[in-house]
Amino acid sequence: MTKTEIKAEFQKIYGKEGDLNFYFSPGRVNLIGEHIDYNGGFVFPGALTLGIMAATRKRNDSKIRFSSVNHPGTFEIDLKTTINYDSSRNWSNYPAGVVSLLKSEGYNLVGADVLFYGNLPDGAGLSSSAAIEVLTGFMFLSEAGEKSIDRVWLAKFAQKVENQFIGVNCGIMDQFSVSLGKENNAILLNCQTLDYQYAPLDLGDYSLVIMNTNKRRELAESKYNERRAECEKSLEILRGDGPIADLCSASLEQVESKLTDPVLKARSRHVVSENQRVIKAMEVLKSGNLVEFGQLLKASHKSLKEDYEVTGKELDAITNAADAHPACLGSRMTGAGFGGCAISIVKTTDVQHFENKVGTQYFENVGLKADFYVSRLGEGVHQQ
Ligand code: GLA
Repeated sequence: MTKTEIKAEFQKIYGKEGDLNFYFSPGRVNLIGEHIDYNGGFVFPGALTLGIMAATRKRNDSKIRFSSVNHPGTFEIDLKTTINYDSSRNWSNYPAGVVSLLKSEGYNLVGADVLFYGNLPDGAGLSSSAAIEVLTGFMFLSEAGEKSIDRVWLAKFAQKVENQFIGVNCGIMDQFSVSLGKENNAILLNCQTLDYQYAPLDLGDYSLVIMNTNKRRELAESKYNERRAECEKSLEILRGDGPIADLCSASLEQVESKLTDPVLKARSRHVVSENQRVIKAMEVLKSGNLVEFGQLLKASHKSLKEDYEVTGKELDAITNAADAHPACLGSRMTGAGFGGCAISIVKTTDVQHFENKVGTQYFENVGLKADFYVSRLGEGVHQQ
């Protein structure tokens, strides 16, 4: 939808009087480094050009109303009252949580009407929740007159909303990517220190293809929190032998020799080996070795499937079909897993053939229609 179309929708819901401001936040894709942000590892995500747009107009009272082109209903909160999580508020808990926490941080917000529109598939592992959180934070602070918003602060703040208000114990990767994304660049982020550097994503004759399995990420939240707890337990055991900053700092030898529980051993093996793969991926990308990069993607998926157990039938089926295509260098799931999206590196001239072939094979295998997006990396949250 264009800005003009969103404006027309806005006026239908909230009336015609007054000027609107527009803001945009991208979703994100993680190239490699999965489930290690909360273990102090390196991750390698980028912001997408797909994302969520918001149109907003100030009110002269303390009310805030949220609507979405993508979902029915208008939800109202009042800045004068305490705002708690409320399941009847559906998706609007995300922006309501942002407002609630901004209030408790002491920000003086103003009432507003807001309409969201997203072209990012929901619950598909492309961080629609981080996008709406960071977008709402950036928008309300901008509307309240904040001139220079610290983007690292904003990422940490949005993560706090997800952890404390929504109740998902996520790491920092998603909120960081959508706050600090840069066009055509991926971000190498050290999740222990939050040091980061941009790395131009130059795939030459190849394209980054995102494949949506269209399998909703059921149980993702509870399984996610369960994996985090398993990592914490493993770290606690390994620390019995001496100080270790985080699970990614353990060695594979320590994991194999000190952890006796097979589940904890497998989870930790994934974490430690995945961190090594990210470092290797940076090296091979710098030297333009895309074939090796593809191999690392495949190894990452295998580890997420066998050791971390977060892939599932649909993600395995789509990556298998993709990897079997001659124009594909490698594939892996991206995001939290349990459904959602995978990525592939595919020869640009063969992308159409790849989509047809993989789509057909995936449908024959699991009975779902996949969606494909050829993606560029885009800018972080901004006013439009
Ligand atoms: C979700 C979380 C992130 C990260 C990924 C897995 O997207 O929000 O913090 O842990 O899963 O890498």
